[in-house]
Parts: sequence; C-alpha cells; structure tokens
Amino acid sequence: MAKRFVFTVGLLAAATTSTVASNAVGPAPVLYVDLAREASLPVPFTGRDIFVPYVPASIANVSVGASRNQHDALAATPHFQIRNAKLARTILTPDARMVQLVYEPGYAFAHEAVTYFPNTDSLYFCSDAGGRLGRSNASTNNVEFQIRNITDVAARAASGQPTSFAQDVEEVKIDSDSVQMINGGMPYGSDHVLLATSGRGDTLPGGLALVPRANSTNPTILLNNAYGRQFNSPNDVGVHPISGQIFFTDALYGAVQGFRPNLSMPLMTWAYDPLSGNLKALDDTVTVPNGLVISPDGKTVYITDTSPVGFPPNPKASNRASIIAFDVTSESVPGSSTEHITAHSLVNRRLFAWPETGFCDGITVDTNGNVYCGTQDGIEVWSPQGLSIMKMFLPNDGAVDLAFAGHGRIAVSAQERIWLIEGLAVGGPDFTALPPKGKKFESA
Ligand SMILES: *[C@@H]1O[C@H](CO)[C@@H](O)[C@H](O)[C@H]1NC(C)=O
Ligand SMILES: *[C@@H]1O[C@H](CO)[C@@H](O)[C@H](O)[C@H]1NC(C)=O
Ligand SMILES: *[C@@H]1O[C@H](CO)[C@@H](O)[C@H](O)[C@H]1NC(C)=O
Ligand SMILES: *[C@@H]1O[C@H](CO)[C@@H](O)[C@H](O)[C@H]1NC(C)=O
Ligand SMILES: *[C@@H]1O[C@H](CO)[C@@H](O)[C@H](O)[C@H]1NC(C)=O
Repeated sequence: MAKRFVFTVGLLAAATTSTVASNAVGPAPVLYVDLAREASLPVPFTGRDIFVPYVPASIANVSVGASRNQHDALAATPHFQIRNAKLARTILTPDARMVQLVYEPGYAFAHEAVTYFPNTDSLYFCSDAGGRLGRSNASTNNVEFQIRNITDVAARAASGQPTSFAQDVEEVKIDSDSVQMINGGMPYGSDHVLLATSGRGDTLPGGLALVPRANSTNPTILLNNAYGRQFNSPNDVGVHPISGQIFFTDALYGAVQGFRPNLSMPLMTWAYDPLSGNLKALDDTVTVPNGLVISPDGKTVYITDTSPVGFPPNPKASNRASIIAFDVTSESVPGSSTEHITAHSLVNRRLFAWPETGFCDGITVDTNGNVYCGTQDGIEVWSPQGLSIMKMFLPNDGAVDLAFAGHGRIAVSAQERIWLIEGLAVGGPDFTALPPKGKKFESA
C-alpha cells in the first residue's frame, strides 16, 4: 500500500515540486511548527484521539484554509516536525532523510530489540511477540532477525533497487527451549546479543539471555526467575556503564496477549548483576514499565510507561503514558562471591516528558543527553531538560523501537517496516563497549 503524494510549491515552504513515496529517500521535508499558533486553535474543534498521528495545523496549513488533502498527504509522508529550531540544528544536517530499508506487508517482523553492531554494520531485531501480525502465540515463538549490512541495504534502497524481507532479512536461529518470546535487546560486547524475553505459557519463564553472534544456537540463560517466582513478561534491558549490571523492566504483555498466565508479581524494574548473581528490585512505581535506557554517564535512567495499552481499562487515553526519569545511585558494598558489589538505587523520581501521540515504547539517548522515543506517529526527541525539540514523523505504524546505528543514523523498527534515518549530526553511546572492561561475560 505504498501511497504516493505530490507536493507542489506553495504547500510546503521549503519543498520543491517532488514526489514523495512512503518509502522515501532523499532529504525529507523539514517543517517548522508555529507553537504559539498551535496553542490557540480556532473553535469549535474536536480533540484528537490518543492514537491519531499529529500533524500540527500550522505546518499543514489546515487552520488557514488549506485542504484536508494537504493534511492527509503530510500524514502519509515521512518528515521532520521542528518544535525548537535552534536545538534541532544540533541534531539534523541538511541531508537528513528517512529511508525505508525493508517492508513486508502482513508480517510484524520488526517489533523491538533493535540492536546495532558497528564491527559488521549489522542490525538485529525481533518480530512481534503475540501481536496480530506477529506470527507467534502461546504455542509458537517469535523470531530474532538480522540485516547483515545495513549500509548495503540502504544504498540499494536509495538507488531505487528493490529490497525485500526474503532477500535482506535473515533469521538468527536460537533453537533453545530456554529463549521464549524475545522483546528487548542490546549489544553485550561486540560478539553477544543481550535479550530480554517474555516467556511463553505457564512453565517457560521469561528473563535475560545472552546469545553469541558466532553461534546463536548456544545461548546462555543469565536469569529466569526471582527467588523461584516467574517474572511476568520482561520487556527491555539496559547495561549500567560503570557497574555492568543489567537493568530490565517486567511488563504485562504476555498476559494481555494470551501467551503467558495472569500476573504473578507486581510490574517492576530490576537490576541483575551477572558477576555476583545479585538480583535487586529497583522500582515498583511506574504503572507499566516498558522501554528503558541508561544515560551515558550512568547517572540517570529513563523508563517509559505504556499503561494506555493492556492496563485496565484498555485502551484508556487517561492512563499514564509518561517517560519517568530517576537518578541512579551507586554504592559499593562487600559481596560474598566478589570483592565488592555495586548497590544501585533509583531516587528522585520525576516525570521527564509526555508524548504528543499515544505512548512511548522503545527509548534511546544520544551522546549529548537528548532522549529519543518511539511513539505511534514517529520518534519524539526531547532535550535533557525534557523540552520537545522535534518529531521525526513516520507514517503508518510510527516507531516501536530504535537504536543509533553508528554516528548520524538511527535504525527504527515499525512492525512491517524497518527505517533508517540518516544524515543526523548526532550519535549514540557505544553500547558494544558494555559491559565495562573486566566485567565481560565469559562463556565456559
Ligand atoms: C500557509 O498558508 C498561507 C495562506 O495561504 C500561505 O501564505 C503560507 O505560505 C502557507 N504556509 C505554508 C508553510 O505552506
Ligand atoms: C500460532 O501461530 C502459528 C504461526 O503463525 C500458527 O501456525 C498457529 O495456528 C497459531 N496457533 C494458534 C493457537 O493460534
Ligand atoms: C557493507 O556494504 C557496503 C556497501 O556494499 C560495503 O562498502 C561495506 O564494506 C560493507 N560492510 C561490511 C562491514 O561488510
Ligand atoms: C554451537 O552450539 C551448539 C549447541 O550448543 C554446539 O553443539 C556446537 O558445537 C557449537 N558450534 C560451534 C562452532 O561452537
Ligand atoms: C486470569 O484471571 C481471570 C480473572 O480471574 C480469569 O478469568 C482468567 O481465566 C485468567 N487467565 C489465565 C490465563 O489464567
């Protein structure tokens, strides 16, 4: 369903006459939102529903009499919506563009666990666990995939050559009964993928798994229980850059999507120390803890609350959809199996930001501390102080999860699509440098 829209000079100040397809390549339109004008809309008007993509009237010109078609054309076109021009200039170069790498209609092959390895320019991600187009359920696992060389696929997409799921996306075979329903992921050194898994059925629990890239059929299960009790549906992971401990969220989506039993524990955020085996509960105040990222200095953690989905009543526009920030404290205490152990606590809980559309799912940071989150109409970007800088608007399913893919690029999973946003002036922390030296997991 690749819709094509033609923009003519005059509709968009900055755009020349061009045809923009939903798998657009080439510089994407950069459109400036007139915040003061947005603040006071002509009345009467009907409020936008929580999941309706947001194309502000001042860029679509709807409020000054442009046609509804112009609004709808923008809503179907990847573009940058700027809220803070000065800060946006530190993030976008004039070449910024959005490239659809692969599109497979009818299969949510690209859900979350977006993980980039610079040494091979490879991207890993997983299909939807339990969702409508996920081809997985209580009896069938979802799948971990990789694109071996994203620069190569992006170059072909940019030159108009076809790309395809069959040709460019490869299954990462993890044929172990221990790894069930992958949802979160990140690098663990250059040679392992660290996964958060949701579990499947009553007796196959979720947890944390380490998958060697060189032999993915031989994963190590780091953690699959809390003192003999099962987690609900572990969702996302972060590795603390100083202690090497693994922070993860435990959400409720296995129960909501019918592949896990009802909740057996509160929904919490945890820290697991692979060196000592210590497991510590960190937080039980985020309603549905989902996406998680730790700032590059290890001092802040951001957790997204996805309670508009699956938290009763469901869906509910008034449920919390905020990004919560905490300060991370780190205290060294004697350990029994190790010389010392770091005890992390989360303090100074605060609402960092609230997204314009829907809820924030996957989340990441750049090296300047800006925060990027996937929502139902794209990627919203905030300054470290929580001021909105821009939206990287993506039509159709918006963005689910995202990760920097080397300097200047962000890879985005969006169910039936993988996007690559290129030409950025920023990069992310090098997660392949984690865990810190000397704390690396050594397989037997
Ligand atoms: C919006 O509409 C006004 C009035 O028609 C026009 O002058 C202006 O150039 C338009 N702005 C954009 C961004 O298209
Ligand atoms: C589970 O998913 C698989 C793969 O899509 C499908 O073949 C099977 O029929 C599904 N089972 C149920 C109970 O829906
Ligand atoms: C990826 O593909 C590009 C373009 O084909 C090539 O130049 C590059 O060497 C490849 N990278 C790796 C790590 O193989
Ligand atoms: C990969 O792992 C499998 C399963 O544990 C093992 O049998 C096999 O020998 C390993 N292969 C290599 C090349 O290490
Ligand atoms: C979950 O709890 C509800 C209400 O008690 C019950 O009706 C339902 O069968 C339970 N589901 C599972 C999968 O245990």
